[in-house]
Amino acid sequence: MIELDRALGHGHAVAVAVGDPDEAALAELHPDERARARALGPVRRREWVAGRRALRRALAAIEPDPAGALAAAPLLADERGRPLVPPGRVGSISHKRAVAVALAAAERGWTVGVDVELVAPRRIDVSARVLTPAERAAVPAAPGLARDRAVILAFALKEAIYKAIDPHLARHVGFQEVAVWPAPDGSVAVEPLAPWGLAVEAAWLALGEHLVCTARARRG
Ligand SMILES: CC(C)(COP(=O)(O)OP(=O)(O)OC[C@H]1O[C@@H](n2cnc3c(N)ncnc32)[C@H](O)[C@@H]1OP(=O)(O)O)[C@@H](O)C(=O)NCCC(=O)NCCS
Repeated sequence: MIELDRALGHGHAVAVAVGDPDEAALAELHPDERARARALGPVRRREWVAGRRALRRALAAIEPDPAGALAAAPLLADERGRPLVPPGRVGSISHKRAVAVALAAAERGWTVGVDVELVAPRRIDVSARVLTPAERAAVPAAPGLARDRAVILAFALKEAIYKAIDPHLARHVGFQEVAVWPAPDGSVAVEPLAPWGLAVEAAWLALGEHLVCTARARRG
């Protein structure tokens, strides 16, 4: 599990442990969210509930809610699977095994995306699918954790970017449509290779064995 409840460059991020939701956890949800959770299988329910709890906390952190507008709004999903949030705010969810992470921000023209991944040795090399030829040339060539970590980081950045750009493009976006150039300080140069017509930013953070990647996008 990771500790995360703070403002990052693209919004406020919150992590919640994925586990069997108890009464207190379910009480954090809107009744429509509880109904949705009940309809899910046990594995999916655990991550879905943790994601909604994280998103509620992240949304509450960016803006006081004296009128109870957030409490009254169910955070369900649109037809593409994107989490729905109250007007004037944007949000995104990711989960990986024991942890769910959400990112929320005031809208201000931007949409946001988040992805959490666990750094661990990979049995399958996905670099040819995830990385562009130039990116492949830049990651460590020798098999091992350093290479796996670099591939996982690029993967997570592109997943976060996908979630941020999907509201604008509403189509499948291939991994070869963008190159990402992460720096050790958590900054990332994003190089769209397709005519998205979007301004896109990304960043990353290492928390123990986890990588948390955030992105935001807007027209322009
Ligand atoms: C949708 C997708 C990004 C989900 O990623 P994942 O690693 O499988 O799972 P994560 O746990 O990180 O994210 C799941 C969450 O993504 C969110 N999500 C699903 N579809 C989404 C969409 N179209 N847009 C934004 N967010 C979406 C949901 O909140 C979901 O969690 P929930 O159903 O519990 O609410 C991934 O399955 C996908 O289809 N990727 C497309 C290819 C791609 O990433 N290309 C990158 C090119 S830039």
